[in-house]
Amino acid sequence: MTELTSDTIDRRTLLKSAGVAALGLAAPIYAATQERRRFAVVGLGSRARMFTGAITGRFSEGNSIVGLCDTNAGRLALAAKTIAAATGTAPAGYAAADFDRMIRETKPHAVIVTTPDAYHDGYVVRALDAGCDVITEKPMTTTSEKAQRILDACKRNGRHVRVTFNYRYSPPRTQVKDLLMSGAIGEVLSVDFQWLLNTVHGADYFRRWHSHKATSGGLMVHKATHHFDLVNWWLSAQPDTVMAVGKRDFYTPSMAKRMGLKGSHERCRTCPEKASCTFYFDLAADTGLKALYLDNEQYDGYFRDQCVFRPQIDIEDTMSVIVRYNSGATLNYSLNAFNSWEGYRIAFNGTKGRIEHEIVEQAGVAGASAEQSSSDAVRTRIIPLRGAPKDLQPWSGEGSHGGGDDVMLNEIFGDAPADKYRRMADERSGAWSILIGAAANISFGTGNAVRIPDLVTGLTAPEMAVMPDRSMPVPMPLRVKMP
Ligand SMILES: NC(=O)c1ccc[n+]([C@@H]2O[C@H](COP(=O)([O-])OP(=O)(O)OC[C@H]3O[C@@H](n4cnc5c(N)ncnc54)[C@H](O)[C@@H]3O)[C@@H](O)[C@H]2O)c1
Repeated sequence: MTELTSDTIDRRTLLKSAGVAALGLAAPIYAATQERRRFAVVGLGSRARMFTGAITGRFSEGNSIVGLCDTNAGRLALAAKTIAAATGTAPAGYAAADFDRMIRETKPHAVIVTTPDAYHDGYVVRALDAGCDVITEKPMTTTSEKAQRILDACKRNGRHVRVTFNYRYSPPRTQVKDLLMSGAIGEVLSVDFQWLLNTVHGADYFRRWHSHKATSGGLMVHKATHHFDLVNWWLSAQPDTVMAVGKRDFYTPSMAKRMGLKGSHERCRTCPEKASCTFYFDLAADTGLKALYLDNEQYDGYFRDQCVFRPQIDIEDTMSVIVRYNSGATLNYSLNAFNSWEGYRIAFNGTKGRIEHEIVEQAGVAGASAEQSSSDAVRTRIIPLRGAPKDLQPWSGEGSHGGGDDVMLNEIFGDAPADKYRRMADERSGAWSILIGAAANISFGTGNAVRIPDLVTGLTAPEMAVMPDRSMPVPMPLRVKMP
């Protein structure tokens, strides 16, 4: 077998589509090649299964998993067993301390990083320095210092990192990009964006590692990275200045008392008030969650069902952010994590009109009937400055994250055509997005506005679709008869 050095790997990464080449990306993993591609995966929890499932299933032709790495020996063994059941071969497994040895021994073309957010940078940088391509889950990382390490490693190695912003690929969101690119509302001058998390899915952030800012960056980074990336991508613009306020007012010990509980506890499984708490979460009830987390607690002591009211939580549940973009556009954004429905509303105010777009991901909460909990209701409406409003038939897709995951996986592992929406994201988009969250976290503490260019050096704009600009004609003012 030919020895795979970083050089041979790099040179043999043949670009399949002219569109990819046109983007000017160095050795992009997502340009599929004719040869077998070898992947190693680090962090083998819930999200990793999307990638391992794709590589061993729909995209098994030409792709294989050669190495697995995790701090938890139980999840490591479970991932190896699942892959062996699908392919007949269990990839080599490595403890987290042996990550570099995994790369040396298994010689992956690319490393897929699906650990908790704060650990992404360490693995991304080590994989790049070892000559591998990298695919990392969002958020790319959690702080500006860590983003700088990744930007520097990309530069040093002449490679780009793929950041899997699956939200861009959801068909209704791509439709909004299409409308904005078409100039349907002219140049966007401002955006109003409201994202709601409910007390089922939203509360889950407060049960897991996400509830610690040191691990997740808080919801401004962990969750809002998706939302800030969408706005950056929708506008084809980069954020400049951020002001924000944030607080935790709901997931607190005192709120538990206001709900009639005695207080907060360690976890649901051993909770003395499980019968009376509507936030009780039964980790054993779901066989998948039990196998992944409950059965592997013995290895690292991690509880997936920690009390949502415990005092150790240090992330916000209520956040408001104002962003000014280099295009001149402004963004008003809010994120609320204890709401009665889950989804979002966004409005783009343009020189020729307004786009209103809304997706209800989960309409009902615990206790609602299936009918009341209808989900994925999509509305997209254009309201011209002059003329009649028009409701558009939403573009639709199947599968997780509004159909976005499947479209994105096909682009990474399959044979996707060149993309006029330029949805593939690299470390530059990863950084521009998390830096809004990092700046908001700073602004929460200081009360001051934060300039994003002051947070990192060497960050340039990614290639993006061309948008309508200030030179576009706008409708004449309407002659209004004054009384
Ligand atoms: N794009 C999306 O829509 C989406 C959805 C879910 C999760 N994610 C992202 O995927 C990543 C993983 O999330 P998840 O839900 O799978 O979490 P998880 O807790 O289910 O899995 C994390 C895994 O990483 C392992 N791990 C922890 N610390 C480690 C370390 N230092 N080194 C190696 N392994 C370590 C854990 O043992 C666990 O197996 C996160 O970055 C998250 O933001 C993205």
